[in-house]
Amino acid sequence: MIILILELLILIVLLIVIFWLICLIFAQIFGAPTVYSSKKAIIDTLKLAGLKKDELVIDLGCGNARVLILAAKEFGAQGIGIDRSPFCFLRSKLSVFLSGQREKIKIVFGDFEKVESHLSKADVIYLYLLNSANRKIENWLFKNISSKTRIVSLAFTFSKHSPKKSIFTKTLGRKTQTSLYIKG
Ligand SMILES: C[S@@+](CC[C@H](N)C(=O)[O-])C[C@H]1O[C@@H](n2cnc3c(N)ncnc32)[C@H](O)[C@@H]1O
Repeated sequence: MIILILELLILIVLLIVIFWLICLIFAQIFGAPTVYSSKKAIIDTLKLAGLKKDELVIDLGCGNARVLILAAKEFGAQGIGIDRSPFCFLRSKLSVFLSGQREKIKIVFGDFEKVESHLSKADVIYLYLLNSANRKIENWLFKNISSKTRIVSLAFTFSKHSPKKSIFTKTLGRKTQTSLYIKG
């Protein structure tokens, strides 16, 4: 009986690892790789955005939802996170549940380019993608946000818009530029 339970546990762990690996490969091929912003980078970037209590932050590609959890805990903000990796979606849901911030944060599964109805409500949009991904969504993003929205992009930039301000922070152990963009 004990051996059967052990075999079952090993099988479950193996299935989780396989699921995680498939999602990693999926994210690597079709979007930005699944690496997460450091706590310092998130706080510095949200301060750069001037995030205030009760404002709405949208994280396009929310990964593990840490950005939204810190935004809720440290700034009192509301959050929406969107991710198309099933692993990141489930992980974000679990992290939000465990953080006790369920009332403030909503996690959506899917391609963020298909859920633009949220965008115009955002006070702050957080990005940690790739230069190529930023440039692919640049026209769509700036077209769909309102004039009050501040976009902050960690490590990567846009090609047609210049940052209003850039600062340096630290993520993945490296000094990294994070930039603030405003429409118009
Ligand atoms: C580099 S991670 C950043 C995670 C989180 N924002 C952070 O800063 O810690 C990028 C995330 O974007 C997601 N992603 C990339 N392209 C996407 C798309 N078109 N729609 C939804 N999610 C996407 C990936 O699955 C990945 O989880």
